[in-house]
Amino acid sequence: MNYTKPMLRDNALQGKTYIVTGGGSGLGKAMTKYFLELGANVVITSRNLEKLQNTAQELRITAQGEVLALACDVRYYEQVVTMRDAAIAHFGQIDGLLNNAAGNFISPTERLSANAFDTIIDIVLKGTKNCTLALGKHWIDKKQDAATVLNIVTTYAWTGSSYVVPSATAKAGVLAMTRSLAVEWAKYGIRFNAIAPGPFPTKGAWDRLLPGDLKDKFDLAKRNPLKRVGVHQELANLAAYLMSDFSAYVNGEVITIDGGEWLKGAGQFNLLEAIPEDMWDALEAMIKSKKRK
Ligand code: HXC
Ligand code: NAP
Repeated sequence: MNYTKPMLRDNALQGKTYIVTGGGSGLGKAMTKYFLELGANVVITSRNLEKLQNTAQELRITAQGEVLALACDVRYYEQVVTMRDAAIAHFGQIDGLLNNAAGNFISPTERLSANAFDTIIDIVLKGTKNCTLALGKHWIDKKQDAATVLNIVTTYAWTGSSYVVPSATAKAGVLAMTRSLAVEWAKYGIRFNAIAPGPFPTKGAWDRLLPGDLKDKFDLAKRNPLKRVGVHQELANLAAYLMSDFSAYVNGEVITIDGGEWLKGAGQFNLLEAIPEDMWDALEAMIKSKKRK
């Protein structure tokens, strides 16, 4: 299987310029790397400029397009506007926004301070709102032909999840924003889609969601129907398609890429996987015998 390989043809994103929030690390970096290899220009933005600059330097080795590092805390609208204007001043036009920046950590909700809850909501929901509004207003004022917004959510955006309640609450809001604006701003040529990744190991997520020996205690590969975690390139392949014009008729969609993980938790009888193969003859006989009575 070659899901670890790049999917789109060479130069598939040439002429496009994208902003990727949280592009200095983890999944944002992996998606940025692929966009750059496909010829796009990419602005990577987050709070830590030194990290962004190091990432930019590393990505230039394989990049076909140009990468620009700009510091911005997405929680503050004025910082987002400054970042947007600097990106436009440098590249002339922005064709897409990837809202990927996030904050998250596991905690029983009753242990959270009000500020801890707010911090996650502010990064994920308010941050996505700030970037979407700043770019959206610009695209609408400028009457730009087409633009696209891709939001990274999670599968618990619709199921909810214990112990990451601020994140679940915020991601649900981001999903609602995605679907709402997909319809409202279609008249301006702006498309909205989302990706809901399952487990894709990154330092940022694993340090906060599976600290210490939790990584070994809760092996996420084992509980996945496909018995593995995600590979960054397969997420990057999907993101590149959704950011590109090839997906021009895909609007308001959320695409899950999790190996079937969330459905495994949802299906009422999925727990029967624990039944050994050789028990099924006996079970079938038991069931059929009841039917005859
Ligand atoms: C309880 C905590 C806490 C913890 C922080 N706080 N960590 N409370 N348990 N483990 C509280 C603090 O005490 C403080 O509240 C408030 O949260 C803000 O903390 P700060 O450290 O001041 O905030 P800040 O410096 O802005 O950092 C934000 C952060 C941090 C979210 C806390 O972890 C961060 O920078 N994260 C960015 C990257 C990240 O989270 N990546 C993972 C994304 S993974 P008080 O009241 O004391 O002031 C993801 C995956 C989802 O989303 C799905 C996976 C399958
Ligand atoms: P990560 O490396 O920690 O990425 C989070 C990024 O957000 C960092 O680059 C961080 O950079 C940036 N960020 C945080 N607060 C910010 C702020 N206030 N302003 C601007 N940028 C900020 O974790 P990741 O695993 O790659 O997560 C990326 C995305 O995937 C997130 O949306 C996450 O919810 C989603 N996701 C991940 C998984 C997974 O298994 N990894 C699963 C489902 C969904 P700075 O610290 O420099 O600001």
